[in-house]
Amino acid sequence: MRFFLIFATIAASAAPTAAFTTISGIARTAPSSTTTSSVVLHATAADINGTDKKKIIILGGDGFCGWPTSLYLSDQGHDVVIVDNLSRRNIDTEMGCDSLTPIQSPDVRVKAWKEVTGKEIKFVNLNVAKEYDLLVQLIKEEKPDSIVHFAEQRAAPYSMKTSKTKRYTVDNNVSGSNNLCCAVIDAEVDAHIVHLGTMGVYGYGTSGGEIPEGYIDVILPGGREANILHPAYPGSVYHATKCLDALLFQFYQKNDQLRITDLHQGIVWGTNTPQTIKDERLINRFDYDGDYGTVLNRFLMQGAMGVPLTVYGTGGQTRGFIHITDTARCIEIAINNPPKTGERVEIFNQIAETRRVRDVAKLVAEQTNVEVNLLPNPRQEAAENELDVSNRKFCNLGLNPITLDAALFDEVTEVVNKYKHRCDPTKILPASFWNKKRAEECASLDPSSVKINV
Ligand SMILES: NC(=O)c1ccc[n+]([C@@H]2O[C@H](COP(=O)([O-])OP(=O)(O)OC[C@H]3O[C@@H](n4cnc5c(N)ncnc54)[C@H](O)[C@@H]3O)[C@@H](O)[C@H]2O)c1
Repeated sequence: MRFFLIFATIAASAAPTAAFTTISGIARTAPSSTTTSSVVLHATAADINGTDKKKIIILGGDGFCGWPTSLYLSDQGHDVVIVDNLSRRNIDTEMGCDSLTPIQSPDVRVKAWKEVTGKEIKFVNLNVAKEYDLLVQLIKEEKPDSIVHFAEQRAAPYSMKTSKTKRYTVDNNVSGSNNLCCAVIDAEVDAHIVHLGTMGVYGYGTSGGEIPEGYIDVILPGGREANILHPAYPGSVYHATKCLDALLFQFYQKNDQLRITDLHQGIVWGTNTPQTIKDERLINRFDYDGDYGTVLNRFLMQGAMGVPLTVYGTGGQTRGFIHITDTARCIEIAINNPPKTGERVEIFNQIAETRRVRDVAKLVAEQTNVEVNLLPNPRQEAAENELDVSNRKFCNLGLNPITLDAALFDEVTEVVNKYKHRCDPTKILPASFWNKKRAEECASLDPSSVKINV
C-alpha cells in the first residue's frame, strides 16, 4: 500500500513538463509537447480494447528488468510469453551468490501471477543464442506483434572477469541478437523488435555537448552532411556487444525491412514495482554483489547494512539513471510507437537523469549515516566525466521520469532490511578487474574485511 502511495504522490506532483537533471545540476525542461502525448501511460487492463491488445514475447523475462516488465504489460491487458534459459540464475550458482530477495522459480512466479490477477503468462525455457530452430518455431506459433529482447549477459564487470566470460558474453549477446533477427525473417512474422541497449554505447568520456538519441549529424570529408549512428565507444566487452547489436540491427533493417527499436538504457535502480508487490512470490531479483549489483542499488544495500559505500576512484563518473518502474513504462511506449516498415532503426535514450557517482553516494550516505569509502577503481575508465543526454523522445511521448528520490530509497531500504540475513558480505567488493594494471591497483582489497554493522 505504502508503495502505491509513493507512486501516487510522484504522479500527482509531476509538473506538466518533465524536469531532467544534467550533470551541471541545471534542471533542463523537456519540451512542452510532453503534455500532448498520444500514449496513455497509466492505462489499466480495462483501457485496452481488442485492437490495442498485443501478443508480446519477452526474451529474458525472468531477469531484473524482464520480470517486472512482463508483469506490467500483462497487467495492462497484453498477452505475454516469457522466454528465458535461466542463465542468470546459473551465473548466481557459478559465482556462489544469490539475489538478496528470494526469487521464486519461473513456474511458481507465473502460477502466483495467475492466482493473484487471473492473467496467464506463458513461460518457455529456451536459449535464444543456441536454440535457433525452437526460436523460429515459437515465433511462427505465437505470431507476436512485438518481441522485447532483454536476453543478454548484462554485467560489464562479469564480461571483464576472464577470457571465458568475455567470450561467453560476446557469443551469447551477439548470437542472440543475430538469431532473433534471422528468426523473425524466417518465421515470416512482422514482429516489432524492441531491444535493450545501453547508454554505454556512447562511451563514458566527457560528451562535450548533449548526446542525441542514436544518430548524430556529421560533416564527412568533402563537406558532405550526413546523419549517422553515433560513434561507438564501448568501455567493456559487454558494452561492445551492444555496439555490435546496433550494427546488426542497422543491417537487418536495411536488408530485410525489419522494424526495430533500440533503447539505450541507463543504470536501473529500485526493486519492486506496483505489480511485483502484489504477492511475495512475485518479488523481483536484487543484485548487490560487485559484479551484478548496479551502482545505486549497491549503495542503498550497503547503506542499509552499515557498510561504507564502495565508490570507485574519485566517484567522478557521471552516469544515466532510470527507475525500474520507468523501464517497464518505456518499453510500453516503445511498443506503442514502432517504426514503420522501411524506416531506420528507432533509437531512444532510456534514462530519467544523469548524476555523478560521488553525488549519488553522498545522497545515500546522508540518508543512511554510513561513510563513503573511496576504493581503487577496478575499471579502465575516465576518472571524471561529464554527461549530458537527450531523453526528449520518451518525454515527448508522455514519460514523466521518476528521478532519485529519498522516499523511493526507503522502499529499497525496506526490502534490504527484510532480507539482509541473505547477504554474503564477502561478495560486496569488486571482483572483476579490467586489466592487469587495474587488478594490481586493487590487490589490497580484501573481500573478507567487509563487515555488516546492523
Ligand atoms: N540492469 C540494468 O541496469 C541495465 C541497464 C542498461 C541496460 N540493461 C539491459 O537490459 C537487459 C536486461 O537486463 P537485466 O538487468 O534484467 O539483466 P538480467 O541478467 O537480470 O536478465 C537477463 C535475462 O536474460 C536471460 N538470458 C540471458 N541470455 C539468454 C539466452 N541466450 N537465452 C535466453 N535467455 C537469456 C537471463 O537468464 C536473465 O534472466 C540486458 O540486455 C541489459 O543489457 C540493463
